[in-house]
Amino acid sequence: MGELRLVELSATTIVAVNNLSLKPGQEQFLAPVSYGIAATVANPQTSWQRVIVDDQEVVAFVSANFDPEDPQEHFRSVLWRINVDADDQGRGVGRFAVEKLIDEARERGMDRVNVIYEAGDGGPEAFFQRVGFTPVGETEYGEVIAEIRL
Ligand SMILES: CC(C)(COP(=O)(O)OP(=O)(O)OC[C@H]1O[C@@H](n2cnc3c(N)ncnc32)[C@H](O)[C@@H]1OP(=O)(O)O)[C@@H](O)C(=O)NCCC(=O)NCCS
Repeated sequence: MGELRLVELSATTIVAVNNLSLKPGQEQFLAPVSYGIAATVANPQTSWQRVIVDDQEVVAFVSANFDPEDPQEHFRSVLWRINVDADDQGRGVGRFAVEKLIDEARERGMDRVNVIYEAGDGGPEAFFQRVGFTPVGETEYGEVIAEIRL
């Protein structure tokens, strides 16, 4: 693995992001119900999206929402989506993305980062806990709400 870099979405990288692959069974974990509902009120000014590049290759996408005004506390500073290409999983790319997201949250004066995920085999729970998220509650749909305190 070369040096990982965080770059903004561009006309070029967005095509590669759309082509990021998943391992079999992972697609069901990408978007909990709560995110679909929150997305109807998502604001382009509060959303943060980045691409992770290894040398010249796009290997991951990470997005978040930072909105101190959001009525739901766990959506004020929230990891929205993280997807590491199937071939590049298990090499530290996801951890790198979460570290950069935490840097961004700190710069914006947030006191935590939340994530909402569905528990289950083949899902991201072990990863989120490994990189520091602690479960703190549940949504009305039974998804786990976890946080990293900054
Ligand atoms: C979840 C995901 C982002 C993890 O990315 P990754 O690059 O494979 O993770 P990393 O290699 O950075 O792993 C970081 C740590 O988590 C651990 N980890 C990652 N996936 C794991 C799993 N399935 N089970 C157990 N531990 C896991 C790693 O062992 C590593 O631990 P260490 O640093 O202490 O050695 C990636 O698997 C993915 O894109 N999944 C499909 C999409 C998805 O479910 N996204 C989440 C919902 S939006």
